[in-house]
Amino acid sequence: MAQGINGASGRTAGWTPDSWRRFEARQLPDYPDAAALDAALVELSSYPPLVFAGEARALTDDLAQVAAGKGFLLQGGDCAESFAEFHPNNIRDTFRLILQMAVVLTFASKLPVVKLGRMAGQFAKPRSAPTEEQNGVSLPAYRGDIVNDIAFDADGRQPDPRRLIRGYSQSAATLNLLRAFAQGGYANLHQVHRWTHDFMGRSPWAQKYADVADRIGEALDFMAACGINPDTVPQLKATSFYTSHEALLLPYEQALTRQDSLTGDWYDTSAHFLWIGDRTRFEGSAHVDYLRGIGNPIGMKCGPSLEPDVLLRLLDTLNPARTPGRMTLITRYGYDKIEGALPRLVRAVEREGHPVVWSCDPMHGNVVKAPNGLKTRPFDRIMAEVRGFFAVHRAEGTFGGGIHIEMTGQNVTECTGGAMAITDDVLADRYHTHCDPRLNAGQSLELAFTLAEMLNQELAERRKVAA
Ligand code: TRP
Ligand code: MN
Repeated sequence: MAQGINGASGRTAGWTPDSWRRFEARQLPDYPDAAALDAALVELSSYPPLVFAGEARALTDDLAQVAAGKGFLLQGGDCAESFAEFHPNNIRDTFRLILQMAVVLTFASKLPVVKLGRMAGQFAKPRSAPTEEQNGVSLPAYRGDIVNDIAFDADGRQPDPRRLIRGYSQSAATLNLLRAFAQGGYANLHQVHRWTHDFMGRSPWAQKYADVADRIGEALDFMAACGINPDTVPQLKATSFYTSHEALLLPYEQALTRQDSLTGDWYDTSAHFLWIGDRTRFEGSAHVDYLRGIGNPIGMKCGPSLEPDVLLRLLDTLNPARTPGRMTLITRYGYDKIEGALPRLVRAVEREGHPVVWSCDPMHGNVVKAPNGLKTRPFDRIMAEVRGFFAVHRAEGTFGGGIHIEMTGQNVTECTGGAMAITDDVLADRYHTHCDPRLNAGQSLELAFTLAEMLNQELAERRKVAA
């Protein structure tokens, strides 16, 4: 049997797809009907894998390029996907916004961009309390559509195992459409003008995007005259698009864990990339045990409570062979904490020589409550955290290689600010999220352009130093 990335390393010593059950598992629902849960998991275990191990390895290779400073990671999508918002137009709109952002970033940085959706499986949510109270009534907290119903209703809030099957089906259908878009012609670079959203008409960023699209169009025309076209160079007409979600609901992930016939390694086939949340990445956690055994590239959220020595021990557990591309560290501190906190982690990881992708989540440390009670995120704070993240990496001589955002191709009003100036007063107009507030298309594009400028500067400086 061929030796895979975790076969020889000893990472999987004592590991089985269910060994996590011997560890402390936080954030898992209490299913009232154990027999119904078992039946759903047995059924899921017999279903086809959603992704193939070879695809996960290809993503590891792409991320290894990012870790080496030769690429950039763009990860984005809903905070939580929902059964109610399951519609082909929603999938298409988020997909094309990611393409737009990727084009802007590729064009400015001249680096390949790894496109990773928080899509096709991003259902389960960690909560700060196991129950929610309203008018003296206490019910189980909403944990995402794959677990229970968002409506505050005694029946709906009971964790229901049949939702696991529905989550799988929706993920399969979403992934199928994403594959079709990525490979079937929609992502052809010659379509670059058509990825624009109609409602973006008035945004200054729509004009800027049209300018970039014009220049790409001109370059493509020139190359076509030289004999380089989508028929001779297929990379022009397709893109690699990967999926990811938080590996939170371990019974579901276990049911989709399969042994790769080529290498003998275990993979979580529910997505290409899985990450571990800030609340479940403690030492001795069931989630850490589960993730250490799978061959997929994995992410770990790093927040203010993470000490450098703990981070290093977790890296040793999760990536003992130090395979480049295996680990992505997703930092989420808040615009006012990032520059104080991040250098300690960066120095520790550098000192130990762990190869990681550093990615910036500027969303989760910047949630505030608007006067009307809605959760929001001010755009200028999101941008301030992104700037702080790059400033730290520049000072430390490391590569800030990625961004992790909650966004949607829908024209929502969930985060305040941006060039179209969404104010506290209009938040309620189109506030549709099932969980955290997302950037809309205009704000996402604005972020991509600003990011592109920063990357450009960064790379120009590195070239100057090297010369
Ligand atoms: N295949 C290349 C890539 O994915 C070029 C490309 C094709 C592309 N379609 C794209 C880049 C859409 C960005 C967006 O990078
Ligand atoms: Mn979120």
